[in-house]
Amino acid sequence: MRILLTGSNGQLGLALKEEFKKLGNVFEVISTDYDTLDITNLEQVEEKLTHEQVEVVINCAAHTAVDKCEEDIENAYKINAIGARNLAVVCEKLGAKLVQVSTDYVFSGEFNNVMVEDIAYEDVLSERIERAKLSRPWREDDGVAPQSIYGTSKLMGEELVRSLCHKYFIVRTAWLYGEGNNFVRTMLKLAETNTELSIVGDQFGNPTYAKDLAIAIVNLIQTEYYGTYHGTCEGTCSWYDFAKKIFEIKEIEIKLNKVTSEQFVRPAKRPFYSSLDNFMLKLNGLNTFRTWEEALEDYLDSEDR
Ligand SMILES: NC(=O)c1ccc[n+]([C@@H]2O[C@H](COP(=O)([O-])OP(=O)(O)OC[C@H]3O[C@@H](n4cnc5c(N)ncnc54)[C@H](OP(=O)(O)O)[C@@H]3O)[C@@H](O)[C@H]2O)c1
Repeated sequence: MRILLTGSNGQLGLALKEEFKKLGNVFEVISTDYDTLDITNLEQVEEKLTHEQVEVVINCAAHTAVDKCEEDIENAYKINAIGARNLAVVCEKLGAKLVQVSTDYVFSGEFNNVMVEDIAYEDVLSERIERAKLSRPWREDDGVAPQSIYGTSKLMGEELVRSLCHKYFIVRTAWLYGEGNNFVRTMLKLAETNTELSIVGDQFGNPTYAKDLAIAIVNLIQTEYYGTYHGTCEGTCSWYDFAKKIFEIKEIEIKLNKVTSEQFVRPAKRPFYSSLDNFMLKLNGLNTFRTWEEALEDYLDSEDR
């Protein structure tokens, strides 16, 4: 099977290269990144994919700097939407399969439940924590309503892929960490110079190890189960819970303060609740994801080696 990776030096791209390496000769992998294949250039995409006679394209290229996207709007849409379109058009011509990686930010980020009016909450943080517990993780067929440029541009990418090629797997993931700059590394770095940290406690999602996502994608491309999937580690937590677990595993003593989104304003609006249910993977018997805690232990262990 001839597979082409775009954005292959990013977190997911590196994890996929590692997985394919373990699997040996079954897959011939052509790794590209911005310098060898700019996905926003249709001619380049057509030339490369045709020349390489690819059977599968895994699009790991994206504009992932969520806050920067708010001002770098043109580039966000060019990379996240037009880039996906270019790959879809050429994959359709070649009869190749396309994996388009997408995001939990396509959802509104509101809590997925009805407000329980008669419970008196101590404060807004306690109320949001309670509402998260009562929420149902988003399934693939739930309505989308992105709240940021990153989210809208990724959604446009999804829609273009759906309308322009047949053999697609759209895989929405979230809170990704692997080789590269990520939340885990940021926390550990901050702990070197701080004895106390304030972490957002009212945004909930699924921390996902890039290795686990890579395994799920490798399984999917060997099927003809086309469609839209959620692919995240199992379980929901807040950024505060995530940080707490990182320091627990690493046995680092540090004081953590739980703060609200209002106390940690950023240029792009963040979802309160974007936990995903891997419903379609489960239906197809392909949900290989571990709990986020197990995956995190594995990741931290691999970082120590
Ligand atoms: N990271 C997360 O928390 C997260 C959450 C949900 C979904 N996702 C999705 O998961 C996928 C993988 O994310 P990631 O964290 O692995 O991303 P990443 O580490 O930011 O890697 C993205 C890669 O794409 C490359 N790239 C940018 N513009 C390109 C272009 N025009 N042509 C070709 N390559 C280009 C980047 O190269 P340069 O570095 O040279 O720009 C980089 O190597 C993306 O679709 C992302 O939207 C990520």
